[in-house]
Amino acid sequence: MDEIDRIDRACRVVRTILAELDAMCREGVSTAELDRHAEARCADFGARPAFKGYMGYPASLCVSINEQVVHGIPGPRRLESGDLVSIDFGVLLDGYYGDSAITCLVGDVSDVDRELSRVTRECLMKAIEQVRPGRRIGDVGRAVEEHATAHALGVVREFVGHGIGTRMHEEPQIPNYRTNRATPRIEAGNVLAIEPMITAGNPEVRVLSDGWTAVTKDGSKAAHWELVVAATADGPRVLGDPVAVDCGEERNSA
Ligand code: MF3
Ligand code: CO
Repeated sequence: MDEIDRIDRACRVVRTILAELDAMCREGVSTAELDRHAEARCADFGARPAFKGYMGYPASLCVSINEQVVHGIPGPRRLESGDLVSIDFGVLLDGYYGDSAITCLVGDVSDVDRELSRVTRECLMKAIEQVRPGRRIGDVGRAVEEHATAHALGVVREFVGHGIGTRMHEEPQIPNYRTNRATPRIEAGNVLAIEPMITAGNPEVRVLSDGWTAVTKDGSKAAHWELVVAATADGPRVLGDPVAVDCGEERNSA
């Protein structure tokens, strides 16, 4: 089994558990319950939660609700109807990392918020289309920015995607916007975690006093979708279970 297959296996575990968490995202569930489920299921797969202990992060999941953009810490807060909930999760399996995020809709979510999640997922899919030998990392960011901007949405600049493999965060960094600087060329075999964070309003963020939770300064809502993709001679190969890859889609497109 080559390295890409090993990362694929780690991503499969992540996507399988994310699909379960998506189904659990209903009114009244606490974010700590989601976290406990993820951690317990990791044990079933012989995987280790990748975020727990990373730079002192205290949990297995990042659960970011509404105006929270990323790195929300699970706790006693219970989900309410109308919440837009981004869940980011990573595991280490047999020496290789998987990392993925989905945005879940709880109960009656407004059309505007549904659209925010849908367009963010579309940004991710358009970015993935660029993961081909010969393209540049900047093409990935440009694809995200163009699609978000066409829908008058904001692109968060403080957090970026990344290479992934035997470490969770490898070179290169993958901004979700175009840059004037030259960016690395993508080669066959590169494995990239692409993760657009998109806001309904101004994309500027600040970090809460817990030292982790990033929120929009203007209080506007945010969505976050992430997948790992390998560049191959035949084009982009999305890693993780293709069935679980659809998690969140049904309710998002309802
Ligand atoms: N989810 C982030 C990423 O995709 C990493 C989380 S960092 C943690 O790169 F400390 F919160 F775990
Ligand atoms: Co990531």
